[in-house]
Amino acid sequence: MSRLIAISNRTAVDPNARAGGLAIALWEALNASGGAWAGWSGSICEGDPETQELSDDGVDFILTDLTREEHDGYYHAYANRTLWPLFHYRTDLVSFDHDAFRIYSDVNRRLAEMVTERIAADDVVWVHDYHLLLFARYLREMGWTGRAGFFLHIPFPPPEVFTILPEHREVAEALCAHSVVGFQSERDRANFVRYLVEYCDGVETSDGKVNAFGSTTLIRAYPIGIDPQAFTQASVSEAARAAAHQIGSILNDRQLVIGVDRMDYSKGLPERFAAVGEFYDNYPEMRGRVSVTQIAPPSRSVVAEYRELREELDRLAGRVNGDHGDLDWIPLRYLARAYDRDQLAGLFRIARAGLVTPLRDGMNLVAKEFVMAQNPMDPGVLILSEFAGAAEQLHDALIVNPFDTRRVAEALHTASPCRSKSGWIAGAASRKSSWRATSHGGARPILMICQTRPHRRSVSP
Ligand code: G6P
Repeated sequence: MSRLIAISNRTAVDPNARAGGLAIALWEALNASGGAWAGWSGSICEGDPETQELSDDGVDFILTDLTREEHDGYYHAYANRTLWPLFHYRTDLVSFDHDAFRIYSDVNRRLAEMVTERIAADDVVWVHDYHLLLFARYLREMGWTGRAGFFLHIPFPPPEVFTILPEHREVAEALCAHSVVGFQSERDRANFVRYLVEYCDGVETSDGKVNAFGSTTLIRAYPIGIDPQAFTQASVSEAARAAAHQIGSILNDRQLVIGVDRMDYSKGLPERFAAVGEFYDNYPEMRGRVSVTQIAPPSRSVVAEYRELREELDRLAGRVNGDHGDLDWIPLRYLARAYDRDQLAGLFRIARAGLVTPLRDGMNLVAKEFVMAQNPMDPGVLILSEFAGAAEQLHDALIVNPFDTRRVAEALHTASPCRSKSGWIAGAASRKSSWRATSHGGARPILMICQTRPHRRSVSP
């Protein structure tokens, strides 16, 4: 019987890691179909890496450790210091290193070897994300001719940016070795197709396929989603209520505005903190009535840009609180640690506004989670960056340009109702009408969009 074989850098072999977009979506797909999941074990080995095979709940894991050299060259350097900034349009942060590319290629080849030794001709191989852009090239070189699909979880940049990558042709050719290449948004799909047509003599056909490098590949947007019912349930779970209760005792009747992001420069956190400062500057009546909480678990802290971001955020949060805080009020609470999914769902549910303002993001599932956690009787407002893939779907959010901090401050004001001496002041009406638009015209579409999962939308070739 044909099996689904997924490959990604990180897997969800650790049950505690079955959170977050890629891990949840893949776990559900494989769990339902009884497939296999190959990737990095999460450990660094001293000697030669060995392959471990284990099964959990119907899913077979095929895992390998990385050597220290592989972890540095493939993961830290090429994936996270070349591809990640470039694909997020941050050409100023990109670093190129030919050795890193060689190691990245070698790891892709080694993972392809590990998989080809274990797959049958009728299996379907499903490759994920920017760590494995060359995987299919090696799969094909090793003689495997079966069906293979690729899904990119992060943005794909315009050709003018992509061609900065010295190896852009090799990468594109390897992507075209799949039968299907999926992107998060129409914008990403269009960028890749334009690259193939303008730089590689690709020919687009009317059925969404492109002929390039001697192959024919279906190229489509498959926006990733969440399980909306499960998230709504999570938002009223015991852990959710406990988290809401805990923060409630600190909020002291103030309105909660919440942001939850991995600590990454693509998430626009310095700009967001600046916007929060402007909000309190420009709308002094909101001081002491609103409290912004930003949860930002640190990430990739070996990479210098991430360490610098941490320092910058510490400084900026201190500045906002120093300027605006009071004996009994912290205007911007910034928590550099992770919380579990149910706790976050509980916080989303009681928040008046969710701030999701990345400078560039593939999809951003926090936006969808925030929507599904709302109490329909008293919903909060989503403030969403126009540069997140989710903005192509969640039209009823307050859509902002995250670089325009004055506009983000304005959106915060629109979203934050609070009582003043004269009763409800600006914000309440707009917030309600924003939700009305959502619940009458858009609730169903949002529900459907939130539950869009790539595996249900036949991303498998
Ligand atoms: C993004 C990527 C994922 C990655 C995750 C966490 O969402 O698309 O592939 O796993 O970030 O990053 P990390 O470097 O910790 O795996």
